Amino acid sequence: MNKPIPTPKACYLIKDKTYAYCTCNHSITKPYCDGSHKGTQHKPLLFKVPKNEKTFLCTCGSTKDAPYCDGSH
Ligand code: FES
Repeated sequence: MNKPIPTPKACYLIKDKTYAYCTCNHSITKPYCDGSHKGTQHKPLLFKVPKNEKTFLCTCGSTKDAPYCDGSH
């Protein structure tokens, strides 16, 4: 059975709200942190946006522009 191809998550982000982007790749709510990193050396990437925006967040962990998808998948 083939592994599913990772796809970016389309998100609507709210100005000045703090988001926690998963960097450990264990969250079941990717791209957002769900606390599954506890007990590892990973920590979520906290970020805000300067205005309300629609964007694509990385779910494959290969981006060089976290939390945003850069097409690396
Ligand atoms: S669950 Fe992955 S960084 Fe928190």
